[in-house]
Amino acid sequence: MKYLTDEKLLIVGAGGMIGSNMAQTAIMMHLTPNICLYDPYAKGLEGVAEELLHCGFEGLNLTYTDDIETAFTGAKYIVSSGGAPRKAGMTREDLLKGNAQIAEDFGKNVRKYCPDVKHIVVIFNPADITGLVTLLYSGVKPSCVTTLAALDSTRLRSELAKYFSISPDKITNARTYGGHGEQMAVFESTTLVDGKPLKELIESKEIPEKDWEELKIRVIQGGKNIIDLRGRSSFQSPAYLSIEMIAAAMGGPSFKWPAGVYVNDKKFSHIMMAMETTINKDGVSFRQVDGTPEENAALEKSYQHLCALRDEVISLGIMPPVSEWSRLNPYMDEETR
Ligand SMILES: NC(=O)c1ccc[n+]([C@@H]2O[C@H](COP(=O)([O-])OP(=O)(O)OC[C@H]3O[C@@H](n4cnc5c(N)ncnc54)[C@H](O)[C@@H]3O)[C@@H](O)[C@H]2O)c1
Repeated sequence: MKYLTDEKLLIVGAGGMIGSNMAQTAIMMHLTPNICLYDPYAKGLEGVAEELLHCGFEGLNLTYTDDIETAFTGAKYIVSSGGAPRKAGMTREDLLKGNAQIAEDFGKNVRKYCPDVKHIVVIFNPADITGLVTLLYSGVKPSCVTTLAALDSTRLRSELAKYFSISPDKITNARTYGGHGEQMAVFESTTLVDGKPLKELIESKEIPEKDWEELKIRVIQGGKNIIDLRGRSSFQSPAYLSIEMIAAAMGGPSFKWPAGVYVNDKKFSHIMMAMETTINKDGVSFRQVDGTPEENAALEKSYQHLCALRDEVISLGIMPPVSEWSRLNPYMDEETR
């Protein structure tokens, strides 16, 4: 069996829906034979491991543990969906506070047990914030951490394919940037629909303005729609895309969608947000996006929203003020690209 690497891949939150699907996807994509599953919920974790063992995969060295030290020691790649999804009656702030605290512990565990980790993909929500907190407390380089933000772009592709009744393959370079959430910036100038620029189709009214506005809302509320349809938050698509991201970091096929990345340059500072990224064995790098004036304004608005969320976590005492970050992670004051 040929694998991308034989280094240890740790799946955090493996007892949950995304985590268990990530484990199965990683095994089926032959990323590495050495996969460790971690979840504090030992019973559910054992159930996932049992199921995977019952698949009868060959060449697999699957381990599972609810012990943090055993799980993190020696991990070279980590994907984490280990956090709570929002439940009925929970405020956004409850989720933000709870998962930001989990991200703090997660980062500290990386620092303590596997500081030479090569890449971490953070999935649990709000991913732009949990990724930022993880990066701060882990002390690793910003190029070592990405967050799952691609689902908004894949949903744009899917909605356009449905609207024009064509194969999703004919929708190319569908892109959203900025925050992963209701304040994302949906771009129209990057996308081609069967070879034609989407922007021209909007200007020529082949897709009327009203339809385009409604389509964008369906993209923004794509996650809510899955909850309405299935009675729980999405897990197949986040699992698949996150494993594609970590595969790219292992030197596998390139990842085709935007990823959440730490941005600290002249335009945006001390923030994690979706940009045009490249993930490879050297980690993640990004380039600034430059759209139409309206798109740039939407991206700026999304950035401001993320800054407000970040400042809320600072006021909760989970992160120190930005001016003190370099004490925990000196790389975070450096300019990134
Ligand atoms: N970024 C995205 O695009 C995206 C998409 C969908 C869901 N999500 C988020 O992913 C997260 C997981 O979703 P799910 O459907 O797998 O939820 P789930 O409840 O099925 O699984 C979460 C797992 O995390 C474990 N967990 C709890 N605290 C932990 C900790 N401190 N350390 C490690 N593991 C811990 C739980 O025991 C559980 O098994 C949620 O926060 C959800 O909002 C993100």
